[in-house]
Amino acid sequence: MTTMELIRHRRSVRTFDGNPLGEEDAARLLAFAEKAENPYGLPIEWRLLSAKADGLSSPVISGTDAWIAGKLKAAPHAEEAFGYEFESIVLFAESLGLGTTWIAGTMDRAVFEKAMDLAPGEVMPCVSPLGYPAKKMSLKETMMRKGVKADVRLPFEQLFFDGSFDVPLTPEKAGAAAELLEMVRWAPSAVNKQPWRVLLLGGTAHFYEKKSRGFAGKDGWDLQKIDVGIAMNHLSAGLAERGAKADFTFADPGLPMPADTEYIASCLIY
Ligand SMILES: Cc1cc2nc3c(=O)[nH]c(=O)nc-3n(C[C@H](O)[C@H](O)[C@H](O)COP(=O)(O)O)c2cc1C
Repeated sequence: MTTMELIRHRRSVRTFDGNPLGEEDAARLLAFAEKAENPYGLPIEWRLLSAKADGLSSPVISGTDAWIAGKLKAAPHAEEAFGYEFESIVLFAESLGLGTTWIAGTMDRAVFEKAMDLAPGEVMPCVSPLGYPAKKMSLKETMMRKGVKADVRLPFEQLFFDGSFDVPLTPEKAGAAAELLEMVRWAPSAVNKQPWRVLLLGGTAHFYEKKSRGFAGKDGWDLQKIDVGIAMNHLSAGLAERGAKADFTFADPGLPMPADTEYIASCLIY
């Protein structure tokens, strides 16, 4: 599969076929996760968990015992780093034919954190089930997908901008960058809010977060920054396929931006 096919084929899988995760798939996934990196250089520890052995549960997942979770030290940019790195694992799982679902909320969090031996000062932002997708989605899964319009994304022109937030970018104007941005467009996000915005200026993609209400906690933790990290990963994946390495920098270019928007990162794309 091409990277675009992988990205377009991935969806959250909440109904699995009941078969256990194969040993070879588990080993390959863990080996990949152990080598995975993020642009912030923050170390993340990944573990495979078992629902039965570890007492894990999620009200939205059925038909698999295997889970993956990651933990890292709470630090500035932990959200983007986690989003970026976990998405590389999610896309690798997809390439193995495994189903995944990013889960931040609908799980028994305390039990997962215990299984991860979460220490003070550490965070375990999200987990995912791992397994083989069932042929048919459960009714609950179908309803959930409808509820968040999981099969669609915002139009290109609402996510991407041409030199200024006043000028929407069309795929035609984006030219060689259009396919890369289309990969960014199809990233998964919490409640499918798609909070990433990208301003293309002089061959550099500047990533911003367009904040929705209710995602940032009083402690400063911001779930939507995970989504922006995921979107950044999709750009990297697209560039990697072209033989280029995404080199993210973090110097705010100081461009005018709409309310509730925060600069996150930049990457030269051509
Ligand atoms: C950071 C993050 C947190 C999420 N948390 C949950 C969750 O708690 N429960 C759930 O069922 N789905 C969760 N999702 C899955 C999203 O609902 C899903 O990615 C989105 O609706 C798009 O659908 P798709 O993944 O099928 O493309 C989460 C996704 C992300 C990126």
